[in-house]
Amino acid sequence: VARRLTMAAPSFEAIAIYAGASGREVVNVPLDRSYAHDLEKMTGTDLVYICNPNNPTATITPKERLREFIEKTPPSTIVLVDEAYHHYAESPQYESVIPLVHGHPNLVVARTFSKIYAMAGLRCGYAVADEKVIEAMGRHQQWDAMNVMAMVAAQASLGDQEHVARGRKRNRDTRGWVVAQLKDAGYECLPSEANFVMADLRRPVKPLLGALSSRGVRVGRLFPAMPDFMRVTIGTHEEMKRFIDAFRDVVNA
Ligand SMILES: Cc1ncc(COP(=O)(O)O)c(C=O)c1O
Repeated sequence: VARRLTMAAPSFEAIAIYAGASGREVVNVPLDRSYAHDLEKMTGTDLVYICNPNNPTATITPKERLREFIEKTPPSTIVLVDEAYHHYAESPQYESVIPLVHGHPNLVVARTFSKIYAMAGLRCGYAVADEKVIEAMGRHQQWDAMNVMAMVAAQASLGDQEHVARGRKRNRDTRGWVVAQLKDAGYECLPSEANFVMADLRRPVKPLLGALSSRGVRVGRLFPAMPDFMRVTIGTHEEMKRFIDAFRDVVNA
């Protein structure tokens, strides 16, 4: 049987690249009108990937809908929920599905140290799932995949809850400022529950990317499913000031 993956469009594409490399079909389901996963349409394949909060839109899929989807999905379908940005999600409509791993052996939750812990590039993350699933995945694991420095950094990160609170607050404050500045310039952002925003430019973003880049400001790439939107990562306040100055220059040019 041809094994197939279902995922949203747009979403974080790494898994589609792996699926393609192993000759699997990928079924793309557009996000719904609220930029949540259109879960009702994401049934019928062997693996469903749900990124919550979603990259690149920064939007969430509401907890009741996700819970119901996990309850209803047959055990033959693996549901993979990527919670890379969970620390930033503060909406009452958001919840982590890690507690649902109990009683749902087809649920896998992925986390990474690359976001709030600022360990991007250190290649450290983990999955939470039923023991049998973890064992099965372990058989495909790269030999000695983890490196000791990343593990030491991850352990220190888990012991530093203050860092998480600080990072979350700094992100919330700076993101609020960026959203307000973009609004002042005439552009709305999708409601962000992550450390980046997706701004609706109402025109092709592509030319702006080059113009920003030539001013030394790198925003997200073009996402073909949303060609009129610009994804901007929240950096330090100074970095975001530079971004806003450059943005105002290039949109008015
Ligand atoms: C949704 C999502 N999952 C996973 C990752 C990657 O995490 P890692 O650096 O651990 O490979 C990213 C990074 O951009 C992401 O956006």
